[in-house]
Amino acid sequence: DYYAILMAGGVGSRFWPVSTQDNPKQFHDMLGTGETLIQKTFSRLSKLIPQENIYILTNERYKDLVLENLPKITEEQVVLEPAMRNTAPCILYASLKIKKKNEDAVMIVAPSDHWIEDEDAFTENVKSAFDFCTEHKALMTLGIEPTFPNTGYGYIEFNDSNQDRIKEVAQFREKPDYQTAQSFIKQGNFLWNAGIFMWHVETVIDAFKNNQPQLFHLFESGIDVYNTEDEWSFIEENYPKAENISVDYAVMEKSDNIYVIPATFDWNDLGTWGSLYDKLDKDDSDNAVVNGKVLAEDATGNMIRTKDGKLVVVDGLKDYIIVDKDDVLMIYPKSKEQDIKQVSGSVRDKF
Ligand code: GDD
Ligand code: MG
Repeated sequence: DYYAILMAGGVGSRFWPVSTQDNPKQFHDMLGTGETLIQKTFSRLSKLIPQENIYILTNERYKDLVLENLPKITEEQVVLEPAMRNTAPCILYASLKIKKKNEDAVMIVAPSDHWIEDEDAFTENVKSAFDFCTEHKALMTLGIEPTFPNTGYGYIEFNDSNQDRIKEVAQFREKPDYQTAQSFIKQGNFLWNAGIFMWHVETVIDAFKNNQPQLFHLFESGIDVYNTEDEWSFIEENYPKAENISVDYAVMEKSDNIYVIPATFDWNDLGTWGSLYDKLDKDDSDNAVVNGKVLAEDATGNMIRTKDGKLVVVDGLKDYIIVDKDDVLMIYPKSKEQDIKQVSGSVRDKF
């Protein structure tokens, strides 16, 4: 059977002021379509995976938000973490829970906050990966054609000696420095890791066992109580002991049974206001507008988000982010969008 774990524990601080620690971006309608990002992700996965087999992994503070966003799921499908330890611990923990239910589970691990354009192509790509990892002991990823030396992504070097659609991976490198990323792109046979993984439950658990024995033993020692009422007290006590490490460093960089499918859909990880701007439809002056109306005179290239259809009048502003949210109005240059993370921190400290 097919299973999914949806990672919904991140904070998305570069989308401040909409995304906050109390209510991060995955629980917001960032695209202005009427659906939150986690709702979109859930319905995308539901095309391939029975809804009752989709688990949402998140920090305990977001439990109610998850249940509000996804009223069809049960509490049991919300897997809570009592501490932020990045993606490796939560993936191992959830995989052990799934294995206890079904030793033959084939699963996808997906972020809850990405933008994917062609859903049919996505479904087809994942189905091909599922078929492959049912047959092979493979850790599978979806790869995106890189367009610039982005140092925030993982890079996948694939073996291009044959025409097979599914490529053997020679090397997985998480977040290389700029020069390395540049040389990877020049070489040609590199893809970005989309952060979407597919594997047989046994394969990923073995990968943790071999490469992260400490993490493996920590979570394996609770196996008897998983999926029982004693689970939470074990997790509350032991989860915080886990190393803070992402699955990319913990397992993907260290394993030699990785395969990649070059994605045939358009993908964006919606990391910043600028990346959201790139994906939205623009008006005649190249402004992207969410939840409002804009009268733009000499104003172009702006990312504008308001509320309840409010009218925004702008003149003389180019390439800015304008976000109107309850008690905050942010007007910030797109060129400095990476700094918004720090801004959200200063605002928390000062006000
Ligand atoms: N449940 C849970 N718990 N989810 C988490 C946690 C956690 O402690 N930490 C992060 N997540 C979620 C985030 O919300 C996000 O959806 C996903 O896991 C990935 O985490 P990021 O923090 O966004 O990772 P990244 O962007 O630095 O890098 C990953 O994604 C890139 C593509 O977007 C890596 O997989 C890269 O290799 C990849 O290129
Ligand atoms: Mg990310």
